Amino acid sequence: MHKIQTTPADAALANAPNKVPNTPPNNSPVNRPIRSYVLRQGRLSPAQARAIDEGRSLVIPYAAGLLDVYGAFGRRAPTIVEIGFGMGHATADIAALRTDENFIGIEVHTPGVGSLLKMLAARNLNNVRVIQHDAVEVMTNMIADASLAGVHIYFPDPWPKKRHHKRRLIQPAFAKLLAQKLQPGGYIHCATDWQAYAEHMLAVMSREPLLVNTAEGFAPRPAYRTESNFERRGLKLGHGVWDVVFCRA
Ligand SMILES: C[S@@+](CC[C@H](N)C(=O)[O-])C[C@H]1O[C@@H](n2cnc3c(N)ncnc32)[C@H](O)[C@@H]1O
Repeated sequence: MHKIQTTPADAALANAPNKVPNTPPNNSPVNRPIRSYVLRQGRLSPAQARAIDEGRSLVIPYAAGLLDVYGAFGRRAPTIVEIGFGMGHATADIAALRTDENFIGIEVHTPGVGSLLKMLAARNLNNVRVIQHDAVEVMTNMIADASLAGVHIYFPDPWPKKRHHKRRLIQPAFAKLLAQKLQPGGYIHCATDWQAYAEHMLAVMSREPLLVNTAEGFAPRPAYRTESNFERRGLKLGHGVWDVVFCRA
């Protein structure tokens, strides 16, 4: 294992045009976007580094224009976006189970990208593409309205402190954006091991007029969602797990 300083993708994220320094020279009010993640220094194993090198064809560069999904996968199939796949275990498991669907995984963390690409190669899976960028920008700029069959968000950072709640991914505006990207009948499936965040998700999605709950309150865990790293961590801490599944009306 060796410590990485920055990768080109990390540097691109760090230098993203809408990122403004904390202390601007003229002390003018800061208009820094609120991100749902903190870019961590990570340890990239040699195997992950190799997977990133060898899996380049599965990585879609971020661009501020609509993605040609057909071109990216070479086929038309229901397309699911997963936001914040972490190390990608659930992503690879679900893609292996649902080979007739396309999966676009979005993650900012380089070792996670390496980990997923390594599993895709090992399992010979060709129905996953990866975008290493802020999911809010990807969803806003690259994904066409009414184009997705589903969105998966598993164990998003809970940002438990009250002053950090604004960094939570699931917010009214983002729920609306996700709903707009779904085809009629398409679904959003979230899971979390933080009860307060689960209740927040339920409340936010219930208030979005484009969405309908598929259950009364929390949903039963769908069979396709296998255990992820963060879920395992939460379970070890004695946390419960809550699934939230809404459909586009
Ligand atoms: C708590 S982890 C959960 C990872 C994985 N889904 C799991 O269940 O193990 C949340 C992940 O979301 C990623 N993330 C958070 N906000 C993101 C964003 N706006 N765009 C892309 N990835 C994001 C983080 O880098 C982190 O890997």
